[in-house]
Amino acid sequence: MSYVARDDRPADKAARYAELEAEILAVLDGEPNLTARMATVGSMLADAFPAFFWTGFYVVDPDRAEELVVGPYQGTLGCLRIAFGRGVCGTAARDRSTQIVEDVNAFPGHIACDSRSASEIVVPVHDGAGRLIAVLDVDATETGAFDGVDAEALERLMARVFAA
Ligand code: SME
Repeated sequence: MSYVARDDRPADKAARYAELEAEILAVLDGEPNLTARMATVGSMLADAFPAFFWTGFYVVDPDRAEELVVGPYQGTLGCLRIAFGRGVCGTAARDRSTQIVEDVNAFPGHIACDSRSASEIVVPVHDGAGRLIAVLDVDATETGAFDGVDAEALERLMARVFAA
């Protein structure tokens, strides 16, 4: 099954996310492995919107306190480890809250892995017991690519894929 990228005008975003969510859930039906689930989400998200440049996960390292380690992703080389509180991902993990950054250059402590990344959204990922297991990081090549529609859709997707 493949997801074909189409128009991503803001008015269509919610509908496209809904379609994408249904496709992801269909692909993952019956697959319990966490790595497979994360890899599939990262891959299908990467294809969903043309401006998405890096899509993937930083997972909570069970062996190191308050540290994220890179997980499955699509895109250019990302940094391997991010401490809670550092950069956008670390802030989302520390605060357990979605971060929308319209201009990464204006975010204090942003970790610049690739200069093509202009804006990003990071969404905390919880398991069925409510434990933080990772953050989803989506970077775009345009500034201001993300808003409340993305936050709502991605939070819902993370809940349905990882906490259901
Ligand atoms: N943007 C992230 C760093 C990771 S990458 O961009 C892949 C951050 O500041 O948390």
